[in-house]
Amino acid sequence: MEHNSVIEQMRQLIQLIAKHNHAYYVMDQPSISDSEYDHLFHQLKALEQQYPECIQADTPTNKVGGQALSKFESVTHAVPMLSLGNVFNQEDLFAFARRIDERLPNQKVQYDVELKLDGLAISLWYENGVLVRGVTRGDGETGEDITQNVKTIRNLPKVLSSQHQAIPDFLEVRGEVLMPKSGFEKLNADQEAKGEKTFANPRNAAAGSLRQLDPNVAASRPLAFYAYGIAQCVPNHGLATMHDSLHWLTKFGFEIAERQFLCASIEEVQQRYEQIQQERPNLKVEIDGMVIKVDSLKQQQQLGFLSREPRWATAYKFPAQAALTKVENIDWQVGRTGTLTPVARLAPVFVGGVTVSNVTLHNIGEIHRLDVRVGDTVSVYRTGDVIPKVEKVWAEFRPADAEIVHLPSNCPVCDSPVVMPEGEALARCSGGLYCAAQRIEAIRHFVSRKAMDIEGLGDRWVESLLHLDLLKDVADIYHLHEHRDTLLTIEKMGEKSVQNLIDAIEASKKTTLARFIYGLGIRGVGETTARMLANTFQTFEALKAADIEALKKTPDVGDITAEWIADFFQAPHNIEVLDRLLAAGIHWDAPTAPTRQPLNGESWVVTGTLESMGRDEATQKLQALGARVSGSVSSKTKCVVAGEKAGSKLDKAQKLEIRVMNEQEFLEFLAQYES
Ligand code: IVH
Repeated sequence: MEHNSVIEQMRQLIQLIAKHNHAYYVMDQPSISDSEYDHLFHQLKALEQQYPECIQADTPTNKVGGQALSKFESVTHAVPMLSLGNVFNQEDLFAFARRIDERLPNQKVQYDVELKLDGLAISLWYENGVLVRGVTRGDGETGEDITQNVKTIRNLPKVLSSQHQAIPDFLEVRGEVLMPKSGFEKLNADQEAKGEKTFANPRNAAAGSLRQLDPNVAASRPLAFYAYGIAQCVPNHGLATMHDSLHWLTKFGFEIAERQFLCASIEEVQQRYEQIQQERPNLKVEIDGMVIKVDSLKQQQQLGFLSREPRWATAYKFPAQAALTKVENIDWQVGRTGTLTPVARLAPVFVGGVTVSNVTLHNIGEIHRLDVRVGDTVSVYRTGDVIPKVEKVWAEFRPADAEIVHLPSNCPVCDSPVVMPEGEALARCSGGLYCAAQRIEAIRHFVSRKAMDIEGLGDRWVESLLHLDLLKDVADIYHLHEHRDTLLTIEKMGEKSVQNLIDAIEASKKTTLARFIYGLGIRGVGETTARMLANTFQTFEALKAADIEALKKTPDVGDITAEWIADFFQAPHNIEVLDRLLAAGIHWDAPTAPTRQPLNGESWVVTGTLESMGRDEATQKLQALGARVSGSVSSKTKCVVAGEKAGSKLDKAQKLEIRVMNEQEFLEFLAQYES
């Protein structure tokens, strides 16, 4: 790589890291996840390793990051508060142990394994057993004096007491302030009730609380402190190990994290890591990994530090929940109901414990919202078993030839026009009767009881027939009898069942216009709408030719459904299939004199038990008079027929002052239309 472009990349990374440091440390509002931050940091470090001659003077890789806020007094740490290196997998962990073994030849090394608490590091000073100062980490060299706030943390000893041990003259304890999960949830609920801003996660809540200038506010927040180390002790405590020092601290009243292990080998460390990953959801606090420390303090000293990190400890992070990768392509998938879903094909990336290489972008609106283009670098985010999603596009890394993605105008499977009525989020293929992606659903719907009612053509048959390539679309159903011999080869299909199927198909040819329309599976056209369309247009030819305005006049057909219907009849492939269906002999009775439909356009509800007829029959009678029968009462309901034991629907009708008929009134009402 050219030096110029190396430097340019370094500058870009340094700027980004600075921006996110500010958001994280100063604003308490992280703009990216920790692992994304780590990723940027590692990228910069890798570049610096490869091109040390290009290292920039202001690189953050040799400082901890973050700055003291001006509103609190600055305090210089006597012992710097350093950070930890990271490992992410067993291989890196074992390499960490190997480096230690190489530096401590012939020594037995034990590991102290702790939770990596996801809060804020602070340092506490005790003079003659009295808490005199609390300081944030800041940039590791200089922090902020937050003594007033620290004193409000309930589980933190303000005065050290011990019956068995002498109180040191001076003690500096390090540990993490955080908000336990339960307190966090309660705080957010309270904040919401008060109409105040809620916190994105416990870490932010803890940070925001610690930075309150008013200690009364901090006091009202459920913060907790967990000790994980001793920076100074005068006179020296004389302890030999990490493990012992943590337990020594508990004797003065400090709390330590709810899990801690002493491991005799690095393999055991790996086991504990896996165990804690399992237990993570049940812990009281948020953690983002484990911290592995050489247990012996003497060995720690021998190992020492390398730039900003101790050689004797490392963070073993849990698999990233978010990671950066590249969008290599965006494909459109056609679902069983014709929806077009954009799917981003990614350069494979390991996130949240799995490798992700495809991620749904849901719809074209989401593509616009994210402004994601082919070639872009994106953050992929995954929590638990939730499907991964693209969270953010890094416009900074967009190559000049990144491609904008458009909604295709034709279906990638069947080439029918793609349609998307205004106000709809999803685009669809309009070739519902023809499109191979929608074939199974279309056939299943077409043969269903309320449509063409072809008894016996169940899923098992359909699958076999698709397999034999005998069903490309619904019209092929009416040509199955031409393939009797092939049908007989299907397992468990004897002469009799084949004949039954062929008979059922033949019988289905005589149907009603409403059933046929319903069977086409046009989006938004359910049973009721199909009946309305049949009543309104009377012939199939009239329906096929209807324009959007005419369709909209049909009761029950709104603007969007009207568009779906028009689009359906405009897709040339659908017309081919329809012609073949009708040519096969599907027919229905010609319309007689238009039936009288006095309840046209009205919405009725039938509820409770009627004595003289079932609810289905009542529904049919109302539908015959043109009413739309709905399952729920709303302000649009014209009338509710209430039988015995009518419940909440009757209550609602009364509340909305909607007309209610009892069974007797209903029968009289029907009688007036009987000819
Ligand atoms: S020991 C020199 N122990 O991790 C090593 N740190 O990246 C000092 N952390 O800022 C750190 N849990 O806030 C240690 N059990 C633990 C920890 C822990 C969380 C945080 C700490 C520090 C960061 C290091």
